[in-house]
Amino acid sequence: MSVIRSKILGVGSYLPEKVMTNDDLSKMVETSDEWIVERTGIKIRHLAADEEVTSDLAVKAAQDALENAGITVQELDAILVATTTPDHTFPATATKVQARLGMTHGFAFDLQAVCSGFMYAMTMADSLIRAGQVKTILVIGAETLSRLVDWTDRNTCVLFGDGAGAVVLTAVQGQGTAADTGILKAKVFSDGTFGELLHTTGGPSSSQTIGTIFMNGKEVFRHAVGKLADAAEDVLSEAGVSSEELTWLVPHQANLRIIDSTAKKLGLPASKVVVTVDHHANTSAASIPLALAEKVKSGEIKRGDLLLFDAMGGGFTWGAMLVRF
Ligand code: UT7
Repeated sequence: MSVIRSKILGVGSYLPEKVMTNDDLSKMVETSDEWIVERTGIKIRHLAADEEVTSDLAVKAAQDALENAGITVQELDAILVATTTPDHTFPATATKVQARLGMTHGFAFDLQAVCSGFMYAMTMADSLIRAGQVKTILVIGAETLSRLVDWTDRNTCVLFGDGAGAVVLTAVQGQGTAADTGILKAKVFSDGTFGELLHTTGGPSSSQTIGTIFMNGKEVFRHAVGKLADAAEDVLSEAGVSSEELTWLVPHQANLRIIDSTAKKLGLPASKVVVTVDHHANTSAASIPLALAEKVKSGEIKRGDLLLFDAMGGGFTWGAMLVRF
């Protein structure tokens, strides 16, 4: 049976120049390199310069992805930016990126699902492609989470970083089997009853400020391990694929312990798990495309590899996606 699939044509990324180490943080709050590495696996994070905003990061990742895909902006039908840290409340960061790329056709919009933002954006982009609405779409995860961090709260300030990652998706014909190239199965979930466990203390309609991040780390951790494995198993079973067939798990990079626990539940050896959290911390919607771009460019992820993405974040939102690269 002939079906439309969304193929990843190219990948791109951008990390701001400024680096903050765990030792730098230990001068600001009562923490240590030892605690942060042991509990999270994070060693450094990148921070946007004072004048740098989310769209600046997004544009750099987008240009990198377009170059990697070997296409021009003229060939794009749409741009989707997953972000929780837009430049402004409106217009959408995606329309700013569209303008900066010199694109005046098609459409661009933002999507907000916090750390699952990239999973949601990819799922929506795949739906647009399969429905025939667009042929080629640029999906970006871009964040300046550092702007939402309370730098006096050691429970959260050690965890986050800034960055952007992007992929170009394009329609290809498939046979409707797991041997196809492109997105094979995507599932996203949310449960708003857990909203209080991970939220910002403000917003345009409530406090008229952006607020800062509050997180009940222990509870988020507990839910993350269960929900990520459940979503991954769901996607694998619906696609008729076993975890042994996976070439790589490319998980949301929040905490090495969460990544390890999920891999263990799926029966995956560490050699099949992409870990980049050590050098960019939790960049929310940017973390999966950042990790993907790094491993594609290093040659570790190759054409034909079977990849599983998973993510979980505020909302709660979570999801998993099976992709043949
Ligand atoms: O992207 C999705 C959203 N986020 C996540 O996925 C994060 C999920 N949660 C986590 O990653 C972990 O829960 C944390 C890394 C945030 C915390 O690790 P934990 O092992 O759950 O530590 P904890 O919260 O139970 O805290 C243990 C101790 C506490 O001290 P007491 O009460 O035992 O005396 C904390 O006050 O560690 C203390 N602590 C710190 N100590 C040094 C908390 N943060 C720090 C810190 N440095 N930065």
